[in-house]
Amino acid sequence: MHCRVMLRSVFRCLRTNLVAGQRNMSQSSLSGKVAIVTASTDGIGLAAAQALGKRGAHVVVSSRRQANVDKAVALLQSQSIQVTGTTCNVGKREDREKLVQMTLDRCGAIDILVSNAAVNPFFGNIMDSTEEVWDKILDVNVKSAFLMTKLVAPHIEKRGGGNVIFVSSVAGYQPMQALGPYSVSKTALLGLTRALAPELAQSNIRVNCVAPGIIKTRFSSALWQNEGVVDELKKQLCIKRVGEPEEIGSVIAFLCSEEASYITGETITVTGGMNCRL
Ligand SMILES: NC(=O)c1ccc[n+]([C@@H]2O[C@H](COP(=O)([O-])OP(=O)(O)OC[C@H]3O[C@@H](n4cnc5c(N)ncnc54)[C@H](OP(=O)(O)O)[C@@H]3O)[C@@H](O)[C@H]2O)c1
Repeated sequence: MHCRVMLRSVFRCLRTNLVAGQRNMSQSSLSGKVAIVTASTDGIGLAAAQALGKRGAHVVVSSRRQANVDKAVALLQSQSIQVTGTTCNVGKREDREKLVQMTLDRCGAIDILVSNAAVNPFFGNIMDSTEEVWDKILDVNVKSAFLMTKLVAPHIEKRGGGNVIFVSSVAGYQPMQALGPYSVSKTALLGLTRALAPELAQSNIRVNCVAPGIIKTRFSSALWQNEGVVDELKKQLCIKRVGEPEEIGSVIAFLCSEEASYITGETITVTGGMNCRL
């Protein structure tokens, strides 16, 4: 008798967990969604495309160089991810328009934008930075993020809603030495996230941001390839290593999922515990 009661409760528990598991799977699934990820042939952008693609989204990858696009498309296809690729320098209006139009032509819709592109053409004292440096940094890192959002928002709205994600940086909270203009551009993205969220909520579009710490990519190689710098950095980290691009990609995919359905106007720092804000 006792044994039968136990068995019954085990079965009930299994059944409940199975149902809960299915619910979790469907909430994190991006099956049927179309995601544009800018600057996505390497590093964090590529990892974001992989994370979204593995959850079922059709991902549209792009960057300035065709050879990089071809390589990224081949890699994602080898992982059974639905992918389309094209060149796009986000600093150029005609390229941005081409990217959006091509996505609509090939995929029929847009549900997600991950605005990931950034440049940093300047290292040094901020007072030595020139107008050209500021123009380039603000054009690519900030203006293009907004202009891409403006281009895709009406199409996401047509789908009944979706997501926009900006990629900022820990430097957006605490300017990094010798990276003044770049840091300011990343602070601007925190503000852009806040400015867009209430307006786009009316179209059921959530707008969020991730602020990575030091992540192992080509962009930050000057930092993590220098042992002295890494030792100094580790003192500021709770998790004593640099991050991997996949650790940003998975947070981006979470923010785009139904599991994050009540999050908007938010920035998630992904820094290994770097001290940058309360
Ligand atoms: N790595 C870090 O530690 C770190 C930390 C905080 C924030 N971030 C942010 O993360 C984002 C990605 O950086 P990452 O480290 O992943 O860089 P990455 O590995 O060097 O990759 C950069 C990607 O951007 C593309 N790209 C560069 N300029 C572009 C442009 N104007 N238009 C379109 N694509 C462009 C590159 O391909 P092509 O050369 O073919 O264009 C490449 O695919 C940036 O916003 C960066 O500020 C990085």
